[in-house]
Amino acid sequence: MWDIDGMDYVDHLLGQGPNILGHAHEAVVTAVAAACKQGTLFGGQHPLEVEASELLLDALQWPDRIRLGLTGTEMVQAALRLARAHTNRRLVVRFEGQYHGWLDNVLTSSTGSAWGIASAGQVASHLDDFLTVPFNDTEAIDECFSRHGDEIACIITEPVMLNSGAIVPRPGFLEHLRRTVDKFGALLIFDEVITGFRLARGGAAEHLGVEPDLAVYGKAMAGGFPAAALAGTSMVMDRLALDTNHSGTFNGNVMSTSAVVATMTVLNTDPPYRAIAEHGTALMQGIQSIADEVGLQMNIHGLPSAFHLSFGSAQVHDWRSLQRLDLAQYADFSHVAVSNGLWITGRGVWYTSAAHGPNELAAALERFRKSLLMWADTRNSPNVLSGQ
Ligand SMILES: Cc1ncc(COP(=O)(O)O)c(C=O)c1O
Repeated sequence: MWDIDGMDYVDHLLGQGPNILGHAHEAVVTAVAAACKQGTLFGGQHPLEVEASELLLDALQWPDRIRLGLTGTEMVQAALRLARAHTNRRLVVRFEGQYHGWLDNVLTSSTGSAWGIASAGQVASHLDDFLTVPFNDTEAIDECFSRHGDEIACIITEPVMLNSGAIVPRPGFLEHLRRTVDKFGALLIFDEVITGFRLARGGAAEHLGVEPDLAVYGKAMAGGFPAAALAGTSMVMDRLALDTNHSGTFNGNVMSTSAVVATMTVLNTDPPYRAIAEHGTALMQGIQSIADEVGLQMNIHGLPSAFHLSFGSAQVHDWRSLQRLDLAQYADFSHVAVSNGLWITGRGVWYTSAAHGPNELAAALERFRKSLLMWADTRNSPNVLSGQ
């Protein structure tokens, strides 16, 4: 990536995740340009919508139906509405530190003891229908359901937490959620906006082997263009054709659907997942050994396609344990890294893509080493165990 001053960056932010094929992938931008020459919006169905949906269903395998939209935020709302329509219940169980879009009924931040509004202008009462529990905590789930089981419409979860850390579920945790919703007649919603088509072609459901009732996708499915989808079983999704509203002028537009078709075709015919896993593993190992060499204690956890880096040391399994790391110090460090040509975000997540190769790996590690040495030099950090 080059900025307006001509400085280059190794990009590990990838537009907050969508650029799984890199920037301006030739097949994707060519297909979108060609499709848009025929018109972009018709107020009616067109073949690309069908093609996009069929490619998504083929990649995911578990769902029967796909509904197209534009953003993850929007499709989360469709999923929640559908879960409430299906169960005729209101309450939603969610997890501390997860992000499900910016709207009033899902945006939260912690005040230390409770989860509440995160933005000026947000209506606090819109959060009243949510029960927020720690991720990876089966006892908290059991307690929640034993108290409110017959009022809970669904559990919504990022199957791998990527908005706070890069926290994988403990073995059996997602299975426990599946069993619990089945027992209480509720639904399981995976928010796969980040994990979808990134962890595997079939997303986290394939990677972790647990099937939800509904799942929301976005980001990687259109290789950098705005598109999102709700997937689900026909038993739940068919209400959209009956009595449950989801609408939107631009849903299924030509630009978005052609981007989905082109991206999903590349992911299908030339799957990058092994290369991404190898690249990410080498990057994680390289970062760890540079941190050891420089003498700074760093925590790296998650998956090669999306991992989290911070200063400090902790066993991270939920939002609370993540707070034991020195997240603020890492956020400061990220500015040093950016000034050295490493495009990363202050919240610690690193994404890898099909476009990262050996040259990018070498450049990223060299820039990381330089940044860390500068950081160790300029800061009197309590994390510096042995300065060099
Ligand atoms: C897990 C998750 N859900 C929902 C969203 C919202 O998606 P969008 O930004 O496309 O509205 C995001 C965005 O980062 C996300 O990470």
